[in-house]
This record gives sequence, structure tokens and C-alpha cells, in this order.
Amino acid sequence: MRLDGKTILITGAASGIGQASATKALAEGARVIGIDQSGDGMPDGVEPILGDVTDNETVARAIAATDRIDGLATIAGISSSGNAIDEIDPDLWDRVFEVNVKATWRWMIAALPAMRAQGGGSVVAIASQLAFGGGRRNAAYIASKGAIVSLVKTAAFELAPDGVRVNAIAPGAIDTPMLNRSMSRNADPAAAREYSQNRHALKRFGRAEEIANGVIYLLSDEASYNTGSVITIDGGWRAA
Ligand code: NAI
Repeated sequence: MRLDGKTILITGAASGIGQASATKALAEGARVIGIDQSGDGMPDGVEPILGDVTDNETVARAIAATDRIDGLATIAGISSSGNAIDEIDPDLWDRVFEVNVKATWRWMIAALPAMRAQGGGSVVAIASQLAFGGGRRNAAYIASKGAIVSLVKTAAFELAPDGVRVNAIAPGAIDTPMLNRSMSRNADPAAAREYSQNRHALKRFGRAEEIANGVIYLLSDEASYNTGSVITIDGGWRAA
């Protein structure tokens, strides 16, 4: 019960990595408030807040639902793969940054008053291995994940005096609905899947639970000396 007595907010809790993290957080004894635009897939036992993570009103409802916030995992994100760098719709670029970067910042600062009042807390954001390695036809998404890395390092310094730890995980390709949608945008999805799997040293996609394990660690007191870190869980993508 590594999260016993803790109240944890998780965005993107209805699918993929967020869903797996919410399930594990419940199993570790946490009270979990899950924020997502969709209620389908929200694990039983999670207190749902349905809405767009970029809306102030959604943020306000989630914050009003609890007196304490011990942990925040900003996992909701969108991908924009499939467009050449000179063909990205500027509105799509803005939306990717709105959801992936600005919402990460917005939820972090919204949780701060409660965390400060309690003497601390843990924020976990989700970057990507691509923030370090780059990639093709995915510039808005990859740049947004690079921004998350920089945001986490900056916030870690600023918020350390408040006892708030801020970290990120950089996953490899994880078998989730997002990955399936990204693969289906390729001309030959089966070949794209095989190429991507082989790009990892372990020659497979990760499971959402394998990223959730890292999220739970960073939310827990076991990670008391982690701040400003970006933990790679990528099946050897960066090593391969
Ligand atoms: P997913 O698409 O399976 O789940 C994302 C969840 O976020 C969905 O439930 C969706 O409804 C929610 N969401 C998205 N935009 C929202 C919004 N504006 N308001 C409210 N809810 C919203 O995706 P997955 O794969 O679980 O990804 C989770 C995070 O992990 C994302 O930040 C993604 O960029 C990151 N990531 C995923 C990788 C992968 O290979 N699947 C690899 C590296 C990072």
C-alpha cells in the first residue's frame, strides 16, 4: 500500500497509461480522482471528473472535489503524427501544445496551493523517448514532449522549497489506443508496427502497466530523493 492515505489526481485516467496508473494507484491504497474527456474506460473506484483538461472550469471542478492533493499525474495527451514538418496545420500545432504542455503547467499550478498547505506533494508528467531522439512526421508532438522535459526541470527547482517534487517519465512506444491510432496513420500500419517494435532493444512495445509502475514509484514516498528527473522506461529505445 505505497499510496495509502494519499489523494491522487490523474488526467487521462480513462485510457492507456492513465487508466493503468489509476488502477495501480487504487490498488496501492490511494483515493484517485480521474480527469478525462471520456468516462468510458474510467476504472471502477476512481472518482471521475469529466471534461477537457484545457478548460479552466474542469480544473476548478477537480480542485474543488478535494481538500488535499498528495499527487498529480498529468497523463492526458494527444499525438499529431503523420504530418510533414512543413504541412502541420498551425491550429493542430497549437492544440497539441495546449493539451500536452499548457495543461501540464495549468494542472501543476492548480495543485500547488493544496500541496503547499500540506508541506509538499509529487507531480508526475509524461514526456516521451522522442523528446531525446527525435522522429519523423511528428514535429508538434515531439517538440511538445521536449517542452515537458524543460518544464519539469524548471518546476523542480522552483518548487523544491515547498516540498513539491516534479518528475517525468519518458516512455518508449506503449501499446495503447493512442499508439494504435498513430500506427494506423501510416500507409502500411503492420510494417510500421514491426519497424517500431524492432527499434526497441527488447523488440516489443511496452505495456501501459510498465509505465504505470514508474508513475506509482514517483508518486510514492519511495521517490523522496527524485526531483527534476526524467525516468526512461523505453524497452531500450535510447540504448538501441
Ligand atoms: P490514450 O489516447 O490511450 O489515452 C489518453 C487519454 O487522455 C484518453 O482517455 C483521452 O480521452 C484523454 N485526453 C486526451 N486529451 C484530453 C483532453 N483535452 N481533455 C481530457 N482528456 C483528454 O494515450 P496513451 O498512449 O495512454 O498516452 C498517455 C500519455 O503518454 C500521453 O501524454 C502520451 O503522449 C504519452 N506517451 C504515450 C506513448 C505511447 O506510445 N502510447 C509514448 C510516449 C508518451
